[in-house]
Amino acid sequence: MKNSLIKFIEIPKIYDDCFLCFAENNKHVPFMIKRVYYVSLPTAGLPRGKHAHLQNKQVLFCIQGKVRMVVDNGSKREEVVLDKPEVGLLLDKMIWHEMHDMDEKTILLVLASEFYDEKDYIRDYKEFLQIIKAE
Ligand code: TYD
Repeated sequence: MKNSLIKFIEIPKIYDDCFLCFAENNKHVPFMIKRVYYVSLPTAGLPRGKHAHLQNKQVLFCIQGKVRMVVDNGSKREEVVLDKPEVGLLLDKMIWHEMHDMDEKTILLVLASEFYDEKDYIRDYKEFLQIIKAE
């Protein structure tokens, strides 16, 4: 969809004696990867995320199970279910994002453009809107 906030990154997948996906800096992922983390075993029913980043860009792969992602740029809010290990969701900087409906099978693998820095987080939605308005 034109102008959608939902931007997918599809990485190569190979089926031989197992299933294999890979991603390389600046080739499959549109930034240099400085950090990798993964999220699993969520507390039942609790959404995760609920923040935006001032600089950090991320690609989020649901490598097992599924997750309903909500993304919001301050003007519009969209959602998508991720359930394919080779399809990542590109989260640009200043995109409010939430992860919903993860279950005990869900594993999210995240590739990030920046090292961890708590000062890069905007965790308050009203503050996020104020920063967007001031830009
Ligand atoms: P949190 O910011 O809640 O993670 P998410 O981005 O998934 O919402 O992080 C939870 C804790 O983990 C917090 O104490 C900071 C720590 N953390 C790191 O030290 N490095 C990291 O790369 C991440 C994602 C978290």
